[in-house]
Amino acid sequence: MLTRRTMTLALAGSALLPAAARAADDWRAKYKEIVFATVPSENASGVADRYAPFVDYLSRTLGVKVTLRIASDYAAAIEGQRAGNIQVVGYGPASYVRAYTVTHGGVEPFVTTINSDGSIGYYSVAYVRADDKATKLEDLKDPIARNANLPADAKATDIDRSAGKDKENWLVMIGVCTHLGCIPLGQQGDFGGWFCPCHGSQYDTAGRIRKGPAPENMAVPVFSFISDTKLRIG
Ligand code: FES
Repeated sequence: MLTRRTMTLALAGSALLPAAARAADDWRAKYKEIVFATVPSENASGVADRYAPFVDYLSRTLGVKVTLRIASDYAAAIEGQRAGNIQVVGYGPASYVRAYTVTHGGVEPFVTTINSDGSIGYYSVAYVRADDKATKLEDLKDPIARNANLPADAKATDIDRSAGKDKENWLVMIGVCTHLGCIPLGQQGDFGGWFCPCHGSQYDTAGRIRKGPAPENMAVPVFSFISDTKLRIG
């Protein structure tokens, strides 16, 4: 059964794949096998069985062998794609942006799934542990949005950390720890966001600093949409 998270994934292929799709014969000659990677978000057991029909469908439709690779986390999938060992990955919006950044624009989204209500994204929620002292924004270590697209005093609400109204499913962020500049690991830590292995800073799913020595939320850079699915950063 597909999970809710799976339903909201956007697929991104290496830059070569969409181009190849437009010139079918060429790319089949070059790619005898396509590796499709997924990162289980829940109940990893049985992932291979759940994806088997989809992988079979891709193999039949594309006319090449498609192999499923179950990645341990998005960082591994992104690295595999950067190295050219993985051609297609199911990403969420935030991990796609990371893949785009790490590969210097070498990935391109070409298909997305649609939820049963017609939406193509998902809403995040801010949550705190029961023993967390933060019960409102002002209690956060850094209550400022740190969003270069907004006034300097904009608050770190979910929407002001995101790409804004009707684009709340996009989080564009510089994935660099605001303590001493390490690269935090995604989908980790007490808050399900980012965990910095250097000195233990923990960020929530909106990149807000929640624990550890980092002084600020991770920065949201200047960016703009040039289409519904493409961004210009900087
Ligand atoms: S650099 Fe991230 S916690 Fe120190």
